[in-house]
Amino acid sequence: MRRSIPAILPAIAALVLAVPPSLAADNVDAGRTIAETWCSPCHATGKRQASDIASPFSDILARRTRQDIATFLADPHGQMPNIQLARQQIADIIAYMATLK
Ligand code: HEC
Repeated sequence: MRRSIPAILPAIAALVLAVPPSLAADNVDAGRTIAETWCSPCHATGKRQASDIASPFSDILARRTRQDIATFLADPHGQMPNIQLARQQIADIIAYMATLK
């Protein structure tokens, strides 16, 4: 019986890892944290803020579709720095943007 607990650990780990990130609910708080940490030097990331460097986040969803933004953020180009974001992080940021309208 002593070995039974360690033996089951890899099975638990495999179960946890098997849940695809797409099943995780889009997390507005995580999106806000990413926005404030990585995006706020250039973009206004709150409500009713202006930025003269890049589009305020409160404004982007009014002009572009979620899919369009996700595609852009998967491979940022032009004047945007090439910040590497996971798919879930992109979904979180867009979920956060949707709260700014
Ligand atoms: C060093 C400055 C800088 C940082 C940091 C930055 N961006 Fe940008 N971003 C820009 C510029 C400049 C543009 C192009 C001008 C514009 O469209 O606002 C842009 C464009 C965008 C666009 C397209 C906007 C539109 O109106 O079509 C999105 C979406 C975007 N950025 C998201 C992000 C996210 C999310 C982060 C943080 C993970 C981030 N940016 C960090 C400078 C930056």
